[in-house]
Amino acid sequence: MWQLLLPTTLLLLVSAGMQAEDLPKAVVSLEPQWNRVLEKDNVTLKCQGTSLPEDNSTQWFHNGKLVSSQDSSYFIASVRVKDSGEYRCQTLLSTRSDPVQLEVHNGWLLLQASQWMYKEGDCIHLRCHSWKNTPLHKVTYLQNGKGKKYFHQNSDFYIPKATAKDSGSYFCRGLLGSKNVSSESVNITIIQ
Ligand SMILES: *[C@@H]1O[C@H](CO)[C@@H](O)[C@H](O)[C@H]1NC(C)=O
Ligand SMILES: *[C@@H]1O[C@H](CO)[C@@H](O)[C@H](O)[C@H]1NC(C)=O
Ligand SMILES: *[C@@H]1O[C@H](CO)[C@@H](O)[C@H](O)[C@H]1NC(C)=O
Ligand SMILES: *[C@@H]1O[C@H](CO)[C@@H](O)[C@H](O)[C@H]1NC(C)=O
Repeated sequence: MWQLLLPTTLLLLVSAGMQAEDLPKAVVSLEPQWNRVLEKDNVTLKCQGTSLPEDNSTQWFHNGKLVSSQDSSYFIASVRVKDSGEYRCQTLLSTRSDPVQLEVHNGWLLLQASQWMYKEGDCIHLRCHSWKNTPLHKVTYLQNGKGKKYFHQNSDFYIPKATAKDSGSYFCRGLLGSKNVSSESVNITIIQ
């Protein structure tokens, strides 16, 4: 990586007495936040790492392979199942990030969660996401097979303060037109 550094950057680093191991680790975040998405969703990956303005130095890796985007935001329009996997980024002045896992699913409905493991007292945020955001109504969120929350019009479901009792297997279902559809189940775990 050092041979790629611009002379001015190198000077800056040397004068600051910086070593490669002093560089911070880049961080990948997703926008929107969901790490499970449906085909045709739009996903933006953002790389937070120190970079010089306009240096176009961001490198993106999908399953370890360098992808062409050099922008600090990597926009994937209309994701496909093949876009699933591990994403990492790196910038001129940061080391390679930890991976972020993206899962692209095929189906009518997908239960999304802001996290899969929560601490007691955290706010659980669930979303019953329909393919291409097709209007969904008479929506039920179920925990361990029992209805937990009903919405006439599809809405996100928030549990403001998670307790151990909120651990379990969740799915959602509702009507797409007159079609009764269900998501797959996912496990949510509350740790103490
Ligand atoms: C993705 O973006 C395109 C263009 O802005 C938009 O037409 C489409 O509805 C978006 N897809 C979803 C699933 O929101
Ligand atoms: C970075 O990319 C922008 C837009 O693509 C371009 O205008 C600029 O010249 C590039 N900067 C460098 C240092 O290559
Ligand atoms: C969808 O089907 C399930 C049984 O498979 C039923 O319990 C539920 O009431 C149906 N939902 C609606 C909104 O009709
Ligand atoms: C959810 O947890 C149950 C019980 O711990 C396990 O049997 C099941 O395989 C898990 N399901 C998923 C989708 O991970």
